[in-house]
Amino acid sequence: MSDVNYQDKIPNNVDLHQDRRLQRALEEWLPNYLDWWMEMGPEGFQRDDIYLRTAVSVDADGWAKFGHVKMPDYRWGIFLNPKDPDRKIHFGDHIGEAAWDQVPGEHRTALRRLIVTQGDTEPASVEQQRLLGQVCPSLYDLRNLFQVNVEEGRHLWAMVYLLHTYFGRDGREEAEAMLERRSGNADHPRILGAFNAPIDDWMSFFCFTTFTDRDGKYQLRALAESGFDPLARTTQFMLTEEAHHMFVGQTGVARILKRTAEMMKNRGGDVRGQGGIPLDMIQKWVNLWYSLSVDLFGGEDSSNAALFFGSSLKGRDREAELTEHTGLNETYKLTRFDANGRESIDEIPLRRAMNEVLRDAYIEDCEKVVKSWNRTLADEGCESRLYLPNRRFHRAQGIYSEARFDATGRWLSDAEWEDRKGEWLPTQEDLAYVKGLMYAVTKPGEFAHWIAPPARGINNQSVEFDYAKFDASSFHAPRT
Ligand SMILES: [Fe+2]
Ligand SMILES: [Fe+2]
Repeated sequence: MSDVNYQDKIPNNVDLHQDRRLQRALEEWLPNYLDWWMEMGPEGFQRDDIYLRTAVSVDADGWAKFGHVKMPDYRWGIFLNPKDPDRKIHFGDHIGEAAWDQVPGEHRTALRRLIVTQGDTEPASVEQQRLLGQVCPSLYDLRNLFQVNVEEGRHLWAMVYLLHTYFGRDGREEAEAMLERRSGNADHPRILGAFNAPIDDWMSFFCFTTFTDRDGKYQLRALAESGFDPLARTTQFMLTEEAHHMFVGQTGVARILKRTAEMMKNRGGDVRGQGGIPLDMIQKWVNLWYSLSVDLFGGEDSSNAALFFGSSLKGRDREAELTEHTGLNETYKLTRFDANGRESIDEIPLRRAMNEVLRDAYIEDCEKVVKSWNRTLADEGCESRLYLPNRRFHRAQGIYSEARFDATGRWLSDAEWEDRKGEWLPTQEDLAYVKGLMYAVTKPGEFAHWIAPPARGINNQSVEFDYAKFDASSFHAPRT
């Protein structure tokens, strides 16, 4: 394992210089990536100095460097966690075999599909968030947005490295295709639903980074168990960066809640009159992004999920802590509904339910997040609470997508749903209202009126720190 040269074109800890062909292939991909970044990355700000962290190693302490960087000069590196030469596959049909350093021929297609699906989400989110900088609620938030964006870019690099290194020509073609699909594009959309949904306001951004990046966390955790060792090691390191994205989301929503709760104490609780985001609107954003993210885990009863687990390619959350690792001779109980809303229990083989098993872990984690938000409300003396909608609510994938359910999971007729969906999901009017609150605040230490300042700054800097030094021309919209 070589030390990282921060100045390298592609900083890495995979001895890239020893594989000239691979290095050349990645250096050829780099300008295409940069073209994509300039076209689809943050609108404006490309010449500005942003206070960013850059991954420079995988050491638990000191893996990152902080400093003002122009985003196109960001060092998107390739980092894998250290290799354990004795590592054994610990689940599925290949349990007990030595972990694979090369792609096993029989699992090549499935593995490529897993890597491409994960990789596609990374540039997608950058595309979805590209206009938000223009209406940043503060420099602190602007910096966090760009931090998330450059790291999603690095995650794309991580997946492209695997494609280039282990999948030959079709891997290189898949890497090119990553730069060709576009979020929300009718002809060339990104692969997964939530990654084609628009993110036009910061409430959506904070919900996305809370719920959709958290889907990423669980997908990465499942891949970090993989029998294919390079995938396990790269996803382990990606999780280190991912934690910050979820922090940005969770604290972002908490800061909005704090401000809203403060406003609820004034002027008879008229939050709208004070230009804040009312609690029932925040709940609708939670419902929307949570349900879009719950969909990302895929079908409840899935032959692909069984294949990925059985082939030892994708494990469960913290697989090592479980007692049984083949997933055979066990079942999972699914609740199904017929066309008239009659409920029944369907017991399926556990391997087929692996998506649902991962979704269970995700939901448990999301419940903790909502609890922490409710503590924020309680601390502000507010008696209202947020909730997590039922997993059946507003689904576009899986067995619940065939019917309609309210936020508590109660079956609804189509007519009832049409009538009442505006109670649970943002209406056009809600979206327009929140979008109307968005404006750029760019004086260090100042914040938009609908969100409270954070408790502390980034990397021990003050909240007033100059997180972004920019050119006046970076903003198209008026700012304060
Ligand atoms: Fe990511
Ligand atoms: Fe992320």
